[in-house]
Amino acid sequence: MLRLKEEICKVLAEQLPLSREQVEPLLETPPEPEMGEIAFPCFALAREFKKNPKDIAAELAKDISGRSEKYWARVENRGPYLNFFVNYSKLGREVMEELVSGSYLTKWCSRGSNQVVVIDYSAPNIAKPFGIGHLRSTVIGNSLYRIYRAMGYKPVGINHLGDWGTQFGKLIAAYSRWGDKKALEQDPVNYLYGLYVDFHREADGDEHLEQEGREWFRKLEEGNEDAVKLWDAFCDFSLEEFKKIYHMLDIEFDHYLGESFYNEQLDRVVEYAWQKGIAKESEGAIVVDLEKYGLPPCILKKKDGATLYITRDLAAAIYRYQEFEFSQMLYVVGAEQTLHFQQLFKVLELMGFAWAENCVHVPFGLIRFKDGKMSTREGNIILLKEVIDKAISLAFQTIQGKNPDLKDKEKVAEAVGIGAIKFGDLYHDRIKDVEFEWDRVLDFSGETAPYVQYAHARLCSILRRARDLNGSRVCSIDISEAAMLLEKEEEKTLVKHLALFADTVIKAQKNQKPSILARYLVDVSREFNRFYHSCSVLGEEGNLKEARLRLLEAARPVLREGLQMLGIKAPEEM
Ligand code: ARG
Repeated sequence: MLRLKEEICKVLAEQLPLSREQVEPLLETPPEPEMGEIAFPCFALAREFKKNPKDIAAELAKDISGRSEKYWARVENRGPYLNFFVNYSKLGREVMEELVSGSYLTKWCSRGSNQVVVIDYSAPNIAKPFGIGHLRSTVIGNSLYRIYRAMGYKPVGINHLGDWGTQFGKLIAAYSRWGDKKALEQDPVNYLYGLYVDFHREADGDEHLEQEGREWFRKLEEGNEDAVKLWDAFCDFSLEEFKKIYHMLDIEFDHYLGESFYNEQLDRVVEYAWQKGIAKESEGAIVVDLEKYGLPPCILKKKDGATLYITRDLAAAIYRYQEFEFSQMLYVVGAEQTLHFQQLFKVLELMGFAWAENCVHVPFGLIRFKDGKMSTREGNIILLKEVIDKAISLAFQTIQGKNPDLKDKEKVAEAVGIGAIKFGDLYHDRIKDVEFEWDRVLDFSGETAPYVQYAHARLCSILRRARDLNGSRVCSIDISEAAMLLEKEEEKTLVKHLALFADTVIKAQKNQKPSILARYLVDVSREFNRFYHSCSVLGEEGNLKEARLRLLEAARPVLREGLQMLGIKAPEEM
């Protein structure tokens, strides 16, 4: 309802010593529909005017109720609030027209003006299976990518693969002790993961092994041929496996730039820190002291000369700014790395990079299955691939039960199964931990992808059945007539929800929370179902039937494009 909001801001700014920009954040959505669509609380003005907020609301109502504005039908004062009631036929007509013609999103959501936004997401670690833990970053990051793109930004998706670090020394050490080429080739990622687990078990009682691991990593950093060759092979095997998963999830990246890509730039980063006078030596290591900022020191180089995760992140950030000149950079990474990003951004700032303030950590909680946190170390990881396969096969069973004659059942099952996994993740505020329950994510009547997908498919099926034999529909009324005829409460409520699409997309982007959009789509689906239960469409005659069909034509792109922004497919039949 951006247009109603704009109008309210304009009028109130004329009446009050506030600018439009100051009015906007004060506007609220009232809890009950009887209180109108938008409310303006007058508390903030009470001190300024030295008056009771109730009186301010009453006066304001008197002053502006005489005005005939386009998007509100009336305004009332209730206690300290000013409540605005939308002009349905005007708003409904415009929103429906824009949605049906496809101009709605461009008109109301294009705010990016091609600004570059780098999004760092997914970033699994080489030689470890793609665990369910990396799923969140992948799914949330990809949805943000799609939301930003829909708003006219230029997102750049980067996969910062974990392909460097001391663990590769350990892996090479383990492989040179127990390595089995055949086993590696047969099932590379699981085999490597097994080696990693073995290493940690054995290293417990064997100090030499730890030492060997460090030694191999040093060799790798020095470019030792044997070490590099093994590392290369590990990377190729893993990447091949990861790409299969991305393909299944329908997710792509603009760049795969792993940590190792920055190796050549690390000395320069350390040098730069010296130049800027922020580096110092401490027990043989090179560090940036961050005590003043309440943060632990940032270690740039260990005493054995090995570089760290954060050194590579510093180099990556600098490289990305040089390469892309981003206006914002998002790191979609678990909340357990909050401290890491605080250190990273602080050091960038101390290095004098003004753009450091445009770097944002977008944190999220854990996904839990009933048996606790997923960890690669302990070996209790649930493989994402197994999760995906299971979701698709469960979706297939459900479809088989509900609609056995459906064509392309496998394709639909894939869309529903994968959609369910993504939605199960995106629906929750990202900062919270998610408890993953199969029954819940695949429930066709819960707050799930299948619920939204099913509403969309149902809506498509009504529109399909309304077509004539040539596949086209002769429409006897235009949208402004249609909007006038939609008078029932369920119809108006659906229109009102559709009108909130742009507000929702913008809010999701501002907060970097796809959950805001996911929840909205559940609401729209629920309103569609309410409408459908109380208003017959195809059973109706004449203009009313046409008007309702037009309403569905307007609702369809909201569900379809909304799902698309979450990275979820919207099959036309289910
Ligand atoms: N590979 C890391 C991990 O699994 C995540 C990397 C996130 N991105 C970054 N630029 N640090 O924990």
